[in-house]
This record gives sequence, structure tokens and C-alpha cells, in this order.
Amino acid sequence: MQEGKTAVNNVIEAEHLRKAFGDIIAVDDLSFSVAAGECFGILGPNGAGKTSTIRMAYAFSPPSGGTLRVLGLDITREARAVKSRIGVCQQENNIDPDLSVLQNLEVFARYFDIPAAEATRRSRELLRFMALDHRENARAVDLSGGLIRRLVMARALLNRPELLILDEPTTGLDPQSRHQVWERLEQLRAEGLSILLTTHNMDEASRLCDRLIIMDRGHLLVEGKPADLVRRHVGRDVIEVTEPAEGLAAYLTERGVIFENLGLRLIVTVEDGRDLYREISERFCNGSGGCIMRTATLEDVFLRLTGRDLRE
Ligand SMILES: Nc1ncnc2c1ncn2[C@@H]1O[C@H](COP(=O)(O)OP(=O)(O)O)[C@@H](O)[C@H]1O
Ligand SMILES: [Mg+2]
Repeated sequence: MQEGKTAVNNVIEAEHLRKAFGDIIAVDDLSFSVAAGECFGILGPNGAGKTSTIRMAYAFSPPSGGTLRVLGLDITREARAVKSRIGVCQQENNIDPDLSVLQNLEVFARYFDIPAAEATRRSRELLRFMALDHRENARAVDLSGGLIRRLVMARALLNRPELLILDEPTTGLDPQSRHQVWERLEQLRAEGLSILLTTHNMDEASRLCDRLIIMDRGHLLVEGKPADLVRRHVGRDVIEVTEPAEGLAAYLTERGVIFENLGLRLIVTVEDGRDLYREISERFCNGSGGCIMRTATLEDVFLRLTGRDLRE
């Protein structure tokens, strides 16, 4: 942290934030803050209110209630000033398909009154950073999904933002493209850029986010560091038993062990599973099924808190 800056240097402060679309309450009484230099995640199932929340943060849609300050500015009264200092990757890739890769950036630079020569210089630099320079003259319409996403990220960085906001940055990308995006985001964070992203990819959240919230149906469920959330809400070990032998559920209930019975699969969460794993393997895994022990993950937390029912 630079000298003179205090720990309470938040780039986002949301208090009792609310967004309503008629009768639908998309975001309800949501409070959170994002510290400078932090990568902060908003997680939740489909329809949880993630997009509604960050659209308010990038001054795309006004809050219906509560207060929201971005880079210290009130999002409603000072939207223009906020927009000039942030970068945004929306959920949909809204590039101009008829322009070339380079032109997409140069045209966008005009919104920020960046002089033409400087715009071209910065555009080329960002295309290099996003490993897109070899396609600078390609028409955007001819790019694959992964390349388009990299172009959108390059564009979001044109105005040298202090805060980068991304809505599901890797949804729909192939593994190579996804890792490419993750590496770039890690590099940007290492350079001190503050990042706010939504995702329902738990690997992404665990890898990138310093802190995160999980929300559902417009409400905040939990907030914390990924590892702390796993510890607090699941434990350390998870034992998964496929096609368990009869009597396992009763045995676990008797021992007061927390488990989830999905019929063909039974999932046990426990702080130290070593003894229990041995016991279960010997007594309840003799049939065709299998038994494994693994480390608990953020996905376990997510499913425990938001359930297994399909959304939308
Ligand atoms: N423009 C809109 N008009 C009406 N309802 C909307 C609109 N945008 C979002 N919603 C509703 O608000 C809720 C939250 O949506 P959204 O913020 O897109 O969730 P997420 O991004 O977490 O999937 C959903 O029920 C969705 O249908
Ligand atoms: Mg969304």
C-alpha cells in the first residue's frame, strides 16, 4: 500500500443496495465493500442478482435504493466521472463485428478523448498484452469466442482504469482461453489494479479472488476469503461414496456426521476424514461403487449454501 493511503481505501462501498424491476427484486439490501488492489468476486446461481449488482457498479443502471460509492464517488450523481476511471467487460461481447481488431480499440478510445496517435499506441500495447497483436487487422467478426473475449478485455483497459469490472469473464470459453484470461487477470492484479468480477466458476473464484460474496435471490449469503469460507462452511475433507452399501446413512446419522444423500451418491463432509474414510471404505464400499476422499472446495460451499435445485 502506498504511503498516505489508509486501509479503508475502498474502491467500492455498497450499503443496503437494492434493484427492483417492477415486482421483481433483483438485489435486496446488499452491502459489501471492495478494497483497493483487491480482486473481489460475486458468486451466485443464475438469477441471483450478480449482473444487476455490477451493472449498478459501472453506472449502467441506477440503484432503486441504498447507496453505492465507486472510487469514492456517488454512482448516481457522478456517473460520468466514474465511467472515465473504470474498465468494463459486460456479460455479452459487444464489439463492432465489421471493424478490425485494432479499429475496435481505436474507435472506443474516442469515448475517452484519447488523441489518435496515443490511441493507436495504447491499442497496440494492449493487443500485445492480450496476445492478440498477430490478429490486429482481422475483422472482429472472424474471431473465435476466446479471441473476442481478449479483445473486450483489451478494450476495457484502454483508459488505464483504476477498477476493472467483469461479468462472467470466462463463461463459454475453452480451457486454453480460460487460463489465458486468468493469467492476464492475475498479472493485472499483481500490478495493483482493483478487480470486481462475477462468476459461477468456483475454480476461477478460488484462484483469483482475495475475497468474495455468495448471493442468492438478491440476498447476500456469506462473505469472506475463499479458504476461510471452505473452512467455516464445509470443513477440510470430503468423502464421496458412489452406490453405497445399505446402512451407511444410518451409520453416519448415528455418529452425528454431516452428510448429503443424493441417492446414488452420498457426500460426507468432515474436518479430519482419515479414520472415517478407512471405516467407510471397509464397511460400505464392497459393491460396484467407489469411495474417494478429497479436499473440500469452494464448490462444496456453494452447493451447500445455494442448494442443488436448477435455476431458471
Ligand atoms: N431488465 C430486467 N427486467 C426485468 N427483470 C430483470 C431484468 N434484469 C434482470 N432481471 C431479473 O432479476 C433477477 C436477477 O437477474 P441477474 O442480475 O441477471 O442475475 P444473475 O446475473 O445472477 O444471473 C432475475 O430474476 C432476472 O430475471
Ligand atoms: Mg448474469
